[in-house]
Order: sequence, then C-alpha cells, then structure tokens
Amino acid sequence: MEAKLQGKVALVTGASSGMGRATSLGLARHGAKVVCCDLQKKANPAGFEKDLATDTTDLIIQSGGEAIFARWTSPTRSRSRLPSTRLCPLDIVVSCAGYWAPFRKFAEEDDELWAKMSAVNTLGTARVARLALRQFLKQDVDEVWGSRGRIVNVSSCAAVTGFPGETAYSATKAAVNHMTLAGALDHAKDSININCVAPGVVATGMARPNFESADTIELMKRATPWPRLGKVEDIAGAVVFLCLPESQWITGQTLAVDGGMTLGVPPRKVARYLVG
Ligand SMILES: NC(=O)c1ccc[n+]([C@@H]2O[C@H](COP(=O)([O-])OP(=O)(O)OC[C@H]3O[C@@H](n4cnc5c(N)ncnc54)[C@H](O)[C@@H]3O)[C@@H](O)[C@H]2O)c1
Repeated sequence: MEAKLQGKVALVTGASSGMGRATSLGLARHGAKVVCCDLQKKANPAGFEKDLATDTTDLIIQSGGEAIFARWTSPTRSRSRLPSTRLCPLDIVVSCAGYWAPFRKFAEEDDELWAKMSAVNTLGTARVARLALRQFLKQDVDEVWGSRGRIVNVSSCAAVTGFPGETAYSATKAAVNHMTLAGALDHAKDSININCVAPGVVATGMARPNFESADTIELMKRATPWPRLGKVEDIAGAVVFLCLPESQWITGQTLAVDGGMTLGVPPRKVARYLVG
C-alpha cells in the first residue's frame, strides 16, 4: 500500500476500541504516526475484535508503524491542550469517543443523561476540534496533501433519522453534524478540512446490547436496506479516505456509512405494496 500519510501525525480519540481502533490501524497502514487517546489503553472487553487482548498501539507497532497511547479523559474535562506528544506537530484529528446508553423514552430521560451525552458527544468533540484548529493554524499548508490539517468527526445515523429511544443521543450527534458544517465554513479559507462520518449499526462493544437482543437486532436489520449490518472497517475506510490527499477538496460534509439506513423507508417494509 502506498504510504500516502507518511510523516503525518494523527490523533484519534476512542482509539482503544471499535471504530477508533480500526481507524487508528487504518491511518497507521497509510504511514501516519498515531496518538491513540482513550480513557484506558485496554480495548472494551465487550468488543467484537478478534485481537482484543492486544492494545491498539501494540498492534500498530507490531506491524511496523509508530503509535503512542495518551490517557485522556477529556473530551469530558476542560483542558486547554491536546495530550502532549513527542510526535507533534499534528495533522489529523479523528473524534471517535462517544457515549451511548440503551433505549428509553424521551419522558424518561433526565438532566444527568443529557449532561453526560452532551459532555462526551458534543462538547468533547467540539473541544478536540478547537484545540486541533489552534495547532493547525500555526502550521503551513502541505501543498501535496492539500491541507493545513484535517478533522474527522464521528456522529451517527441517529443524528438525521428518528430512532425510538435515543432522543438525547440523537440530539447530541446532530450537533456534531452541524458543527462540522459550520466549522468547515469558518476554516475553509485556512485550508483546514472538517468532515464527519455518520455510522449506521456497527458491531462494537458499545452496540453489543443491540446485537444480543433478538428483537433489537431484527429491528436494526429491517431498518438497514443493505443485506448486512456494519463492520468497524466500513467506518474506518471512510474516515481514512477523508484524511487522504484525494479528499482535499471535500469539507463540511457528513458522509452516511450506514448500509442505506437513512435513505428512506426500507424496501422490504413496502414490498407488499410494490408487488402486483
Ligand atoms: N456502534 C454503533 O453502532 C455506532 C453507531 C453510530 C455511531 N456510533 C459512534 O461511533 C463512535 C465509536 O463508537 P464504537 O461503537 O466504536 O464504540 P466502542 O465502545 O467500541 O469504542 C468507544 C471508545 O471510546 C472510548 N471513550 C468513551 N468515552 C470517552 C471519553 N470521554 N474520552 C476518551 N475516550 C472515550 C471508550 O473507552 C472506547 O474505547 C462513538 O462516537 C459512537 O457514538 C456508534
């Protein structure tokens, strides 16, 4: 594989598990040095990864790449600096850290849930982006790569389509889509790309309760037109693309990677109206 990100430094939040882990591995395969940020170095034990016992950084190093772990409980805490790293400067920031809780009706949600979802999903993503932007603005544009820096946020299909039992989560993720758009407009002239990937249902530790409930998984399958649900590699592939030279003229976009979940009413549901 051509190392199109050779010499670039990427910081990934939520890097120990799931999509953040797959994205870290994907960026490293393209030659980026990766600062893997998470609450803990160990992968979420509920995850579906076959190599759960090996930390993300070790996987990258074993494959000949360069990575360090930075324990970072922000995005929830107020911090004025990104985790210090001997790998600076910084070129790419991917915000995968997120908080989701199993379903409840809007009337049953409380301020505590909204505060936690907002802190991690919205404020955390905004804070990481702002700190990255301040660093990017001190750096020159890389004329070949096409940018001064890249930010890729991770929101959710729930941000654009109604899904029962997820009001707080949906609202905090919708804010991520919109900060992507508005922030990109502010910084396009600086040659800084801000994009977002909105995943559908993906097999990760976070989503394991869904995968273990026969009813929920049936609902998720019916809501997803594509014949299978998502894998972390589906998301990582899109995120990595948004970091490559080829995507330098894309900014402010939220790319749905969801097997068509947000396209409309799934065909199987209306099939009986279409036949005959
Ligand atoms: N799995 C899905 O079906 C799905 C669907 C749509 C969106 N998402 C979003 O995708 C992103 C990645 O989730 P995942 O499914 O890979 O989950 P995951 O549980 O596999 O990984 C999430 C990682 O983020 C870390 N993390 C959580 N809070 C953090 C914080 N405050 N600071 C730093 N790290 C933190 C966790 O320790 C974990 O390693 C999240 O933003 C999630 O909301 C997931």
